[in-house]
Parts: sequence; C-alpha cells; structure tokens
Amino acid sequence: MAFENILVETFDAVGLIRLNRPQALNALNAALLGELNAALEQFDADERIGAIVITGSEKAFAAGADIKEMQALDFVGAYRSDFLGEWEKITRARKPVIAAVAGYALGGGCELAMMCDFIIAAKTAKFGQPEITLGIMPGMGGTQRLARFIGKAKAMDLCLTGRMMDADEAERSGLVARVVPSEDLLDEALRAAARIASFSRPVVMMAKETVNRAYETTLGEGLRFERRLFHSMFALEDQKEGMSAFVEKRTPAFKNR
Ligand code: HXC
Repeated sequence: MAFENILVETFDAVGLIRLNRPQALNALNAALLGELNAALEQFDADERIGAIVITGSEKAFAAGADIKEMQALDFVGAYRSDFLGEWEKITRARKPVIAAVAGYALGGGCELAMMCDFIIAAKTAKFGQPEITLGIMPGMGGTQRLARFIGKAKAMDLCLTGRMMDADEAERSGLVARVVPSEDLLDEALRAAARIASFSRPVVMMAKETVNRAYETTLGEGLRFERRLFHSMFALEDQKEGMSAFVEKRTPAFKNR
C-alpha cells in the first residue's frame, strides 16, 4: 500500500512508522490518520512483526491535530462525523507500540504518544496540550490519559495553561519511560522493540493487555484478570521453553505458541 503522509519500514521483527508531513510539523490530518491506522493494522496482522515503533522527525513528533483542517468545522459536522473518534483505533493494536518522540509532541501529538504503550523521548522532546490557546480543549484523550498517567496537578497545569513540558519533566512526571540523547532515539526505540519482539508473542500481547486493563477497571478486577491470564500461560509451549532454558543455562527459543 502506498502512503503519502507516513513512511513505513521493517527491521526484522519490528515495524517502523514515521509520520511524514514535514511542511506542517507532522500535523495530524484525516489522510494521515487513515494511513496510520492502515499501517498499524497491517503490522498487527503480520506474523513476522512482534512490536511497532511510531516516530516523527527531529523537529516534531507531531505538532497537534491539523488546525487548518479544523478551522472551519462546525458543531453538527463534528458531532455527526464523530470527529476524532477514529483515533481510538490506534489503541486497538494488540502488539506493543512504542512512541519515539523528538521535538514537539503537542495537542493531538501528545495524545497520540499517550495512545502508544510507552514513550521513549529524546532530550529535545516537548510535550503539551496547547488547545486552550486555540479556544478549544484536548479532544483525543489529553484530559483523561494525562490525568491518569501523570496525575491531576500536572494534567490541570498543562491543559489549563497550555505550557510545554520538557523531556526531563516528562520523565519525572511518569509520562515518559526513558530519555535519551537525540542521536540515539531511533536506535534505542528499535532496540527496545526488537527485544520485545524476541519474547513469546502471546505472552507479550497478554502483558500489554493486562497493564492496559489497570486503566480500565478496579484493582480487584485487574488482579483477577492478571491471575487468570497468568494461569493460562502454563498452557504455552513458550512457558516450558523459557523455564527449561533457564534451568539448562541456555537462550530460550520461543515458538510463539
Ligand atoms: C496545522 C501546523 C500545525 C498544526 C504547525 N503547523 N503546527 N499546521 N496544524 N497543529 C504548520 C505551521 O502553520 C507552519 O506552516 C509550519 O507547520 C511550521 O510551523 P511554524 O509555526 O512556522 O514553526 P515554529 O515557529 O518552529 O513553531 C513550532 C510550534 C508552532 C511552536 C510547534 O507551529 C505551533 O504552536 N503549532 C501549533 C501547536 C498547537 O497548537 N497544537 C495543538 C493543535 S490542536 P506554514 O504553512 O505557515 O509554513 C489539537 C487538538 C487535538 O491538537 C484534539 C482536540 C481537537
């Protein structure tokens, strides 16, 4: 499939998607969204792929939803088309998705990064929800995911003042898993993804699903969900292989079954 707003590559078992609208700092428009969803679906369905990385450019992961596309939108149009609703599809990928963020991750860009499973940031990364400066508020999860991921104080601060947060503050706040020098960003993200892809696919997918469950349910239900899936892992050949390899002091050869 030919894409115009993203670039897609594979590195062995890792799928890489680069947002590619440099003229608009990777502003997220409908065309880009359609391509991103299609590429993610392809990688998710591809048995050779074990993890996915989404990245932008050195200057911008994405500077937000496309303001020029939204400018003339009216209420009825937004409501009837469920404007931005399609973005939730990103979170349906069952394989892990890492956001590798350099430069601006603003508005929808910050929200897209938060839809991924974790964020690796370059020192240059800047996160923010500047919608308030445009006469709107976040609409792709910013108010909800930020509040859950970094707490009320910082979520309110970012959503109400529209200020930006640098990579170190984002890491201190728990928004970002790792901060790395800019020149190492892609390598670090690809290495993390390759490591994930080297483990048992079903176990990786269940671990992702279970951590995400923590944000959808009570502690009691989440713990029960975890324990039941944990029990099911003893039906996997990969559990026998992983534990035998440990006991026999060799590297496991997972079969993804
Ligand atoms: C459309 C955008 C854009 C955006 C940048 N551009 N951000 N176009 N939508 N979100 C375009 C600019 O218009 C410009 O195009 C080109 O990209 C380069 O941007 P500059 O502003 O010239 O770059 P710079 O001076 O380096 O400033 C970078 C910046 C600034 C600080 C990131 O671009 C900026 O403030 N952008 C908007 C950030 C923002 O408000 N994001 C939230 C969007 S709302 P031209 O053609 O002029 O050269 C949102 C809502 C989410 O995301 C969901 C709820 C609805």
